[in-house]
Amino acid sequence: MSHSCVFAPTGVTIKPILYADGVLKMIDQRLLPTEEVWLEYTDYRAVAEAIVTMVVRGAPAIGVAAAYGAAFGARDIQATDGADFMRQFEAVCAHLAATRPTAVNLFWALKRMKSFAAANASAGQPVENLKIGLEYEALAINDEDIRINLAMGRHGAPLIPDGARVLTHCNAGALATAGFGTALGVIRAAVAAGKKVSVVADETRPFLQGARLTAWELSRDGIDTTLICDNMAGYLMSKGEIDCVIVGADRIAANGDVANKIGTYTVAILAKEHNIPFYVAAPLSTIDLELSDGSLIPIEERDAREVTHIGDKPLAPDNIRVRNPAFDVTPARLVTAIITERGALLGNYSEDLRRIKAGA
Ligand code: MRU
Repeated sequence: MSHSCVFAPTGVTIKPILYADGVLKMIDQRLLPTEEVWLEYTDYRAVAEAIVTMVVRGAPAIGVAAAYGAAFGARDIQATDGADFMRQFEAVCAHLAATRPTAVNLFWALKRMKSFAAANASAGQPVENLKIGLEYEALAINDEDIRINLAMGRHGAPLIPDGARVLTHCNAGALATAGFGTALGVIRAAVAAGKKVSVVADETRPFLQGARLTAWELSRDGIDTTLICDNMAGYLMSKGEIDCVIVGADRIAANGDVANKIGTYTVAILAKEHNIPFYVAAPLSTIDLELSDGSLIPIEERDAREVTHIGDKPLAPDNIRVRNPAFDVTPARLVTAIITERGALLGNYSEDLRRIKAGA
Protein backbone atom coordinates (compact mmCIF):
# COMPACT_ATOMS: atom_id res chain seq x y z
CA MET A 1 0.00 0.00 0.00
CA SER A 2 1.47 3.36 -0.91
CA HIS A 3 -1.25 5.97 -0.66
CA SER A 4 -1.22 8.95 1.62
CA CYS A 5 -3.68 11.23 3.27
CA VAL A 6 -3.32 14.60 1.56
CA PHE A 7 -6.31 16.58 2.77
CA ALA A 8 -5.15 19.44 4.99
CA PRO A 9 -7.39 22.52 4.83
CA THR A 10 -6.42 25.84 6.33
CA GLY A 11 -7.03 26.06 10.06
CA VAL A 12 -6.23 22.38 10.67
CA THR A 13 -2.95 22.82 12.45
CA ILE A 14 -2.80 19.64 14.51
CA LYS A 15 -3.30 16.21 12.95
CA PRO A 16 -2.65 13.38 15.41
CA ILE A 17 -3.01 10.60 12.82
CA LEU A 18 -0.87 10.57 9.69
CA TYR A 19 -0.72 7.96 6.99
CA ALA A 20 1.71 7.55 4.13
CA ASP A 21 3.23 4.68 2.16
CA GLY A 22 1.47 1.98 4.15
CA VAL A 23 2.58 3.29 7.54
CA LEU A 24 0.32 4.84 10.17
CA LYS A 25 1.89 7.41 12.49
CA MET A 26 0.13 8.51 15.67
CA ILE A 27 1.27 10.98 18.28
CA ASP A 28 1.53 9.20 21.64
CA GLN A 29 -1.18 11.03 23.61
CA ARG A 30 -0.08 9.40 26.86
CA LEU A 31 3.12 11.47 26.81
CA LEU A 32 1.69 14.88 25.94
CA PRO A 33 2.27 17.65 26.79
CA THR A 34 5.81 16.97 28.00
CA GLU A 35 6.96 14.80 25.08
CA GLU A 36 5.89 14.77 21.43
CA VAL A 37 6.62 11.22 20.32
CA TRP A 38 5.24 9.73 17.10
CA LEU A 39 4.74 5.96 16.97
CA GLU A 40 4.55 3.96 13.74
CA TYR A 41 2.10 1.15 13.00
CA THR A 42 1.81 -1.43 10.22
CA ASP A 43 0.02 -4.23 12.08
CA TYR A 44 -3.62 -4.41 13.19
CA ARG A 45 -2.84 -6.01 16.56
CA ALA A 46 -0.51 -3.14 17.41
CA VAL A 47 -3.20 -0.64 16.40
CA ALA A 48 -5.67 -2.42 18.71
CA GLU A 49 -3.14 -2.18 21.52
CA ALA A 50 -2.69 1.55 20.81
CA ILE A 51 -6.44 2.04 21.24
CA VAL A 52 -6.56 0.05 24.51
CA THR A 53 -3.58 1.88 26.00
CA MET A 54 -4.79 5.33 24.82
CA VAL A 55 -1.92 6.20 22.52
CA VAL A 56 -4.91 7.28 20.44
CA ARG A 57 -8.17 8.24 22.14
CA GLY A 58 -11.27 10.31 21.53
CA ALA A 59 -14.25 8.77 19.74
CA PRO A 60 -13.62 9.89 16.12
CA ALA A 61 -9.84 9.30 16.36
CA ILE A 62 -10.44 5.77 17.63
CA GLY A 63 -12.68 5.14 14.60
CA VAL A 64 -10.06 6.46 12.17
CA ALA A 65 -7.27 4.42 13.79
CA ALA A 66 -9.42 1.27 13.73
CA ALA A 67 -10.13 1.77 10.02
CA TYR A 68 -6.39 1.83 9.27
CA GLY A 69 -5.95 -1.18 11.56
CA ALA A 70 -8.58 -3.04 9.56
CA ALA A 71 -6.78 -2.12 6.32
CA PHE A 72 -3.51 -3.51 7.76
CA GLY A 73 -5.26 -6.71 8.83
CA ALA A 74 -6.73 -7.05 5.34
CA ARG A 75 -3.34 -6.48 3.71
CA ASP A 76 -1.85 -9.44 5.60
CA ILE A 77 -4.65 -11.89 4.79
CA GLN A 78 -3.73 -14.86 2.59
CA ALA A 79 -7.00 -15.89 0.97
CA THR A 80 -7.97 -17.84 -2.09
CA ASP A 81 -11.33 -16.19 -2.69
CA GLY A 82 -13.65 -13.45 -1.46
CA ALA A 83 -15.52 -15.68 1.00
CA ASP A 84 -12.30 -16.89 2.60
CA PHE A 85 -11.07 -13.27 2.74
CA MET A 86 -14.29 -12.12 4.43
CA ARG A 87 -14.05 -14.83 7.10
CA GLN A 88 -10.54 -13.72 8.01
CA PHE A 89 -11.41 -10.04 7.74
CA GLU A 90 -14.30 -10.50 10.20
CA ALA A 91 -11.79 -11.87 12.73
CA VAL A 92 -9.49 -8.86 12.22
CA CYS A 93 -12.41 -6.48 12.81
CA ALA A 94 -13.58 -8.45 15.87
CA HIS A 95 -10.10 -8.06 17.39
CA LEU A 96 -10.15 -4.29 16.80
CA ALA A 97 -13.72 -4.02 18.14
CA ALA A 98 -12.75 -5.66 21.44
CA THR A 99 -10.65 -2.67 22.52
CA ARG A 100 -12.89 0.02 24.03
CA PRO A 101 -16.66 -0.39 24.46
CA THR A 102 -18.19 3.08 24.80
CA ALA A 103 -17.30 5.19 21.75
CA VAL A 104 -19.60 3.95 18.99
CA ASN A 105 -17.37 5.47 16.28
CA LEU A 106 -15.12 2.42 16.67
CA PHE A 107 -17.95 0.06 15.72
CA TRP A 108 -19.25 2.46 13.10
CA ALA A 109 -15.86 2.57 11.32
CA LEU A 110 -15.41 -1.21 11.45
CA LYS A 111 -18.94 -1.77 10.16
CA ARG A 112 -18.21 0.58 7.27
CA MET A 113 -14.99 -1.29 6.44
CA LYS A 114 -16.79 -4.65 6.58
CA SER A 115 -19.69 -3.44 4.43
CA PHE A 116 -17.25 -2.10 1.86
CA ALA A 117 -15.37 -5.42 1.75
CA ALA A 118 -18.54 -7.52 1.66
CA ALA A 119 -20.10 -5.49 -1.19
CA ASN A 120 -16.94 -5.72 -3.29
CA ALA A 121 -16.31 -9.37 -2.48
CA SER A 122 -19.82 -10.31 -3.53
CA ALA A 123 -19.37 -8.25 -6.71
CA GLY A 124 -16.54 -10.68 -7.53
CA GLN A 125 -13.59 -8.33 -6.94
CA PRO A 126 -10.29 -10.21 -6.59
CA VAL A 127 -8.73 -10.35 -3.12
CA GLU A 128 -5.92 -7.92 -4.08
CA ASN A 129 -8.52 -5.31 -5.09
CA LEU A 130 -10.34 -5.75 -1.78
CA LYS A 131 -7.10 -4.97 0.05
CA ILE A 132 -6.43 -1.82 -1.98
CA GLY A 133 -10.06 -0.74 -1.71
CA LEU A 134 -9.99 -1.08 2.08
CA GLU A 135 -6.90 1.10 2.28
CA TYR A 136 -8.74 3.79 0.29
CA GLU A 137 -11.79 3.41 2.51
CA ALA A 138 -9.66 4.08 5.62
CA LEU A 139 -8.17 7.15 3.92
CA ALA A 140 -11.68 8.33 3.09
CA ILE A 141 -12.82 7.92 6.71
CA ASN A 142 -9.77 9.93 7.81
CA ASP A 143 -10.34 12.78 5.33
CA GLU A 144 -14.10 12.87 5.89
CA ASP A 145 -13.60 13.25 9.63
CA ILE A 146 -11.75 16.53 9.12
CA ARG A 147 -14.39 17.85 6.70
CA ILE A 148 -17.14 16.85 9.15
CA ASN A 149 -15.42 18.71 11.98
CA LEU A 150 -15.10 21.83 9.84
CA ALA A 151 -18.82 21.60 9.03
CA MET A 152 -19.66 21.18 12.72
CA GLY A 153 -17.59 24.27 13.39
CA ARG A 154 -19.63 26.25 10.86
CA HIS A 155 -22.93 25.13 12.40
CA GLY A 156 -21.78 25.55 16.00
CA ALA A 157 -19.89 28.85 15.85
CA PRO A 158 -23.07 31.01 15.76
CA LEU A 159 -24.06 29.55 19.18
CA ILE A 160 -20.91 30.96 20.80
CA PRO A 161 -21.37 34.66 21.62
CA ASP A 162 -18.62 37.19 21.06
CA GLY A 163 -16.70 37.52 24.31
CA ALA A 164 -17.91 34.12 25.59
CA ARG A 165 -16.11 32.27 28.35
CA VAL A 166 -16.61 28.66 27.35
CA LEU A 167 -16.12 25.70 29.67
CA THR A 168 -15.11 22.36 28.17
CA HIS A 169 -14.52 18.94 29.70
CA CYS A 170 -12.05 16.27 28.57
CA ASN A 171 -10.51 16.69 25.12
CA ALA A 172 -12.85 16.88 22.15
CA GLY A 173 -10.27 18.60 20.02
CA ALA A 174 -7.92 17.94 17.14
CA LEU A 175 -6.27 15.22 19.20
CA ALA A 176 -9.57 13.37 19.63
CA THR A 177 -10.27 13.38 15.90
CA ALA A 178 -8.37 13.35 12.61
CA GLY A 179 -7.99 17.13 13.05
CA PHE A 180 -9.77 20.37 14.12
CA GLY A 181 -11.98 18.67 16.71
CA THR A 182 -15.68 18.55 17.53
CA ALA A 183 -16.28 20.76 20.60
CA LEU A 184 -12.92 22.49 20.20
CA GLY A 185 -13.62 22.70 16.45
CA VAL A 186 -16.68 24.82 17.24
CA ILE A 187 -14.50 27.05 19.43
CA ARG A 188 -11.84 27.25 16.69
CA ALA A 189 -14.52 28.21 14.14
CA ALA A 190 -15.89 30.93 16.46
CA VAL A 191 -12.38 32.33 16.90
CA ALA A 192 -11.77 32.15 13.13
CA ALA A 193 -15.02 34.10 12.65
CA GLY A 194 -13.43 36.95 14.62
CA LYS A 195 -15.08 36.36 17.99
CA LYS A 196 -13.15 36.87 21.16
CA VAL A 197 -13.53 33.56 22.99
CA SER A 198 -11.78 32.30 26.08
CA VAL A 199 -11.83 28.68 27.22
CA VAL A 200 -11.95 27.21 30.70
CA ALA A 201 -10.64 23.64 30.52
CA ASP A 202 -11.54 21.10 33.22
CA GLU A 203 -8.46 19.04 34.02
CA THR A 204 -10.56 15.83 33.67
CA ARG A 205 -9.44 13.37 36.31
CA PRO A 206 -8.22 10.69 36.22
CA PHE A 207 -6.58 10.60 32.77
CA LEU A 208 -6.20 14.40 32.62
CA GLN A 209 -7.21 14.86 29.01
CA GLY A 210 -8.16 18.47 29.80
CA ALA A 211 -4.92 19.42 31.51
CA ARG A 212 -2.61 17.48 29.23
CA LEU A 213 -4.34 17.63 25.84
CA THR A 214 -6.94 20.41 25.64
CA ALA A 215 -4.64 22.91 27.31
CA TRP A 216 -1.80 21.83 25.00
CA GLU A 217 -3.65 22.06 21.72
CA LEU A 218 -5.53 25.29 22.47
CA SER A 219 -2.36 27.02 23.64
CA ARG A 220 -0.60 25.87 20.48
CA ASP A 221 -3.33 27.54 18.44
CA GLY A 222 -3.07 30.72 20.52
CA ILE A 223 -6.58 30.38 22.02
CA ASP A 224 -6.96 31.99 25.45
CA THR A 225 -7.23 29.05 27.89
CA THR A 226 -7.49 28.74 31.67
CA LEU A 227 -7.06 25.35 33.33
CA ILE A 228 -9.15 24.43 36.39
CA CYS A 229 -9.56 21.33 38.53
CA ASP A 230 -12.86 19.56 37.86
CA ASN A 231 -14.30 20.54 41.22
CA MET A 232 -13.89 24.28 40.49
CA ALA A 233 -16.49 24.46 37.70
CA GLY A 234 -19.44 25.08 40.04
CA TYR A 235 -17.66 27.94 41.78
CA LEU A 236 -16.84 29.66 38.50
CA MET A 237 -20.41 29.24 37.29
CA SER A 238 -21.80 30.66 40.55
CA LYS A 239 -19.58 33.71 40.07
CA GLY A 240 -20.94 34.30 36.55
CA GLU A 241 -17.61 33.44 34.94
CA ILE A 242 -18.91 30.82 32.46
CA ASP A 243 -21.22 31.73 29.55
CA CYS A 244 -21.67 28.32 27.97
CA VAL A 245 -20.40 24.75 28.08
CA ILE A 246 -19.41 22.70 25.05
CA VAL A 247 -18.31 19.07 25.10
CA GLY A 248 -17.95 16.17 22.68
CA ALA A 249 -19.62 12.76 22.89
CA ASP A 250 -18.69 9.10 22.71
CA ARG A 251 -22.18 7.85 21.96
CA ILE A 252 -25.57 9.54 21.67
CA ALA A 253 -28.64 7.33 22.12
CA ALA A 254 -31.76 7.69 19.96
CA ASN A 255 -33.47 9.89 22.59
CA GLY A 256 -30.51 12.32 22.80
CA ASP A 257 -28.89 10.99 26.00
CA VAL A 258 -25.15 11.63 25.72
CA ALA A 259 -22.30 9.41 26.93
CA ASN A 260 -19.11 11.41 27.32
CA LYS A 261 -16.07 11.50 29.61
CA ILE A 262 -16.73 10.90 33.28
CA GLY A 263 -17.67 14.19 34.95
CA THR A 264 -19.66 15.52 31.98
CA TYR A 265 -22.96 14.74 33.74
CA THR A 266 -21.85 16.74 36.79
CA VAL A 267 -21.00 19.71 34.57
CA ALA A 268 -24.40 19.45 32.82
CA ILE A 269 -26.25 19.50 36.16
CA LEU A 270 -24.22 22.52 37.26
CA ALA A 271 -24.95 24.28 33.95
CA LYS A 272 -28.69 23.65 34.38
CA GLU A 273 -28.61 25.03 37.94
CA HIS A 274 -26.90 28.20 36.70
CA ASN A 275 -28.97 28.61 33.50
CA ILE A 276 -25.92 28.16 31.30
CA PRO A 277 -26.38 26.59 27.84
CA PHE A 278 -24.87 23.10 27.58
CA TYR A 279 -23.87 22.14 24.02
CA VAL A 280 -22.70 18.80 22.64
CA ALA A 281 -20.79 18.66 19.34
CA ALA A 282 -20.65 15.25 17.68
CA PRO A 283 -20.62 13.76 14.19
CA LEU A 284 -23.51 11.61 12.96
CA SER A 285 -21.24 8.57 13.39
CA THR A 286 -21.52 9.11 17.17
CA ILE A 287 -25.33 8.78 17.09
CA ASP A 288 -26.45 5.24 17.87
CA LEU A 289 -30.09 4.89 16.88
CA GLU A 290 -30.02 1.23 17.93
CA LEU A 291 -30.02 2.23 21.60
CA SER A 292 -33.28 3.82 22.70
CA ASP A 293 -31.75 5.64 25.68
CA GLY A 294 -28.50 6.26 27.51
CA SER A 295 -28.99 3.53 30.13
CA LEU A 296 -28.15 0.99 27.39
CA ILE A 297 -24.76 2.53 26.53
CA PRO A 298 -21.91 0.29 27.72
CA ILE A 299 -19.67 2.22 30.10
CA GLU A 300 -16.00 1.28 30.17
CA GLU A 301 -14.41 0.71 33.58
CA ARG A 302 -10.67 1.27 33.46
CA ASP A 303 -7.74 0.21 35.59
CA ALA A 304 -7.80 1.32 39.25
CA ARG A 305 -4.23 2.51 38.85
CA GLU A 306 -5.42 5.52 36.85
CA VAL A 307 -7.14 6.70 40.05
CA THR A 308 -4.59 5.63 42.64
CA HIS A 309 -1.50 6.90 40.81
CA ILE A 310 -0.26 9.85 38.80
CA GLY A 311 2.43 8.37 36.60
CA ASP A 312 4.40 6.13 38.94
CA LYS A 313 3.51 8.15 42.02
CA PRO A 314 0.91 6.61 44.37
CA LEU A 315 -1.78 8.97 45.72
CA ALA A 316 -3.78 6.52 47.82
CA PRO A 317 -3.19 3.73 50.31
CA ASP A 318 -2.34 0.31 48.88
CA ASN A 319 -5.34 -1.99 48.34
CA ILE A 320 -7.97 0.75 48.67
CA ARG A 321 -11.16 -0.19 46.77
CA VAL A 322 -11.50 1.96 43.65
CA ARG A 323 -14.13 2.67 40.98
CA ASN A 324 -13.00 4.02 37.64
CA PRO A 325 -15.91 4.40 35.20
CA ALA A 326 -14.45 6.25 32.21
CA PHE A 327 -17.73 7.76 30.99
CA ASP A 328 -21.11 8.90 32.26
CA VAL A 329 -24.44 9.64 30.64
CA THR A 330 -25.98 13.11 30.49
CA PRO A 331 -29.77 12.96 30.06
CA ALA A 332 -31.09 14.66 26.92
CA ARG A 333 -33.14 17.12 29.01
CA LEU A 334 -29.89 18.77 30.17
CA VAL A 335 -28.57 19.26 26.62
CA THR A 336 -29.41 22.63 25.05
CA ALA A 337 -28.30 21.63 21.54
CA ILE A 338 -26.52 18.83 19.71
CA ILE A 339 -24.30 20.21 16.96
CA THR A 340 -23.70 17.87 14.01
CA GLU A 341 -22.17 18.29 10.56
CA ARG A 342 -25.72 18.72 9.19
CA GLY A 343 -26.78 21.40 11.64
CA ALA A 344 -27.61 22.05 15.28
CA LEU A 345 -30.57 20.25 16.89
CA LEU A 346 -32.42 22.09 19.61
CA GLY A 347 -34.27 19.82 21.98
CA ASN A 348 -36.59 17.55 19.98
CA TYR A 349 -33.93 14.85 19.80
CA SER A 350 -36.00 11.67 19.41
CA GLU A 351 -37.40 12.88 16.09
CA ASP A 352 -34.56 15.09 14.91
CA LEU A 353 -31.68 12.65 15.43
CA ARG A 354 -33.47 10.04 13.30
CA ARG A 355 -34.31 12.61 10.63
CA ILE A 356 -30.83 14.15 10.45
CA LYS A 357 -29.11 10.78 10.38
CA ALA A 358 -31.35 9.73 7.50
CA GLY A 359 -30.13 12.82 5.63
CA ALA A 360 -33.51 14.60 5.65
O1 MRU B 1 -11.29 8.17 27.19
P1 MRU B 1 -11.18 9.11 26.02
O2 MRU B 1 -10.08 10.09 26.16
O3 MRU B 1 -11.16 8.38 24.71
O4 MRU B 1 -12.54 9.93 26.07
C1 MRU B 1 -12.75 10.95 25.15
C2 MRU B 1 -14.00 11.71 25.36
O5 MRU B 1 -14.77 11.43 26.25
C3 MRU B 1 -14.31 12.78 24.36
O6 MRU B 1 -15.00 13.83 24.97
C4 MRU B 1 -15.17 12.18 23.25
O7 MRU B 1 -14.59 11.04 22.72
C5 MRU B 1 -15.44 13.14 22.17
S1 MRU B 1 -14.00 13.40 21.21
C6 MRU B 1 -14.35 14.38 19.89
